[in-house]
Amino acid sequence: METMPTWVVLESCKKIPDGVTAFRKKRRSIAVHKQGGEVRQVFQNNCPHNPRIKITDDFTLEDETITCRFHGACWKLEDGEIMKGPGRKDLHLFEFRINEKSQLEVLID
Ligand code: FES
Repeated sequence: METMPTWVVLESCKKIPDGVTAFRKKRRSIAVHKQGGEVRQVFQNNCPHNPRIKITDDFTLEDETITCRFHGACWKLEDGEIMKGPGRKDLHLFEFRINEKSQLEVLID
């Protein structure tokens, strides 16, 4: 049975620190990247090359790229497009929005 994507509240925006922070909702591990007080991206918190590796534990951010320390794969920070392997998969980004209570909501299927 196919599940419909639903908007899920993750956290109040002001409680999310700058940097990359892990959350868990609907059995999904989610990494929120916040910079300068603004949420920039919301990622599935796994390396596409090896899902056991977490972005929040083993990735580094530099300028406009995000890199896995295990094998050096690297993606565009803005949209998760792969720039260098191993592997060919893009990072999975979730759609997100800020609701009227200044809470971060993420569209999860
Ligand atoms: S585990 Fe991330 S690039 Fe291999």
